[in-house]
Amino acid sequence: MDFFLDSTDFEEIKRLNQTGIIDGLTTNPSLIYKAKTPFDQLINNLCSEIKGPVSVETVAENSEQMINEGIKISKMAKNIVVKLPMTWEGIKACKQLSEMSIKTNVTLCFSSSQAILAAKAGATYISPFIGRLDDANVDGVQLIREIKLIFSHYNYETKILAASIRTKNHVTQSALAGADVVTIPPKVFSSLVDHNLTDKGLKIFNSDWQKSGQKIL
Ligand code: G3P
Repeated sequence: MDFFLDSTDFEEIKRLNQTGIIDGLTTNPSLIYKAKTPFDQLINNLCSEIKGPVSVETVAENSEQMINEGIKISKMAKNIVVKLPMTWEGIKACKQLSEMSIKTNVTLCFSSSQAILAAKAGATYISPFIGRLDDANVDGVQLIREIKLIFSHYNYETKILAASIRTKNHVTQSALAGADVVTIPPKVFSSLVDHNLTDKGLKIFNSDWQKSGQKIL
């Protein structure tokens, strides 16, 4: 499963990218607003730091303008993925951008029927928002399972990008459900390594090693 970061916090992204296991990045208009950085400068910085796919969202309301924005955004860096909303205008734009070999990510997906539309439009990624479904008392991970099953029946090549991740459990449950990618906020990503039994075990190993008086180097 690929690990993307869901963030525009450049310093945090640089720090976590040093783990060597970040496969890509997703942004959205709210994260762009949060960055308080000129758009072109921010996207260039992010696409220079992250070598894998970087999703950047269009903001137009009609497909013609989405396509124009998508073409412009795609030219900003080789690893750009154009994010489009799950609307009929977004589906139309996705179909045309995909036919131009521009990678696309259809976002704000909350149902299997929406995911099928994105797959039929040739989307590279579909982004089911599992955290926001949970917030609405709907089982978000169950949507991942449904989409995975549906896509397997028809050999759809669209990758399932689990988004709106709130907890470590969302990451593991998305993996169990067969998501191709999970896009993780930096705080949740940082917590993935934590376990109290690991800390406890390492403390004992270190203590016993000190007592052994041995040296490796
Ligand atoms: O960036 C897309 C998605 O991950 C946003 O999630 O936390 O705003 O529900 P969130």
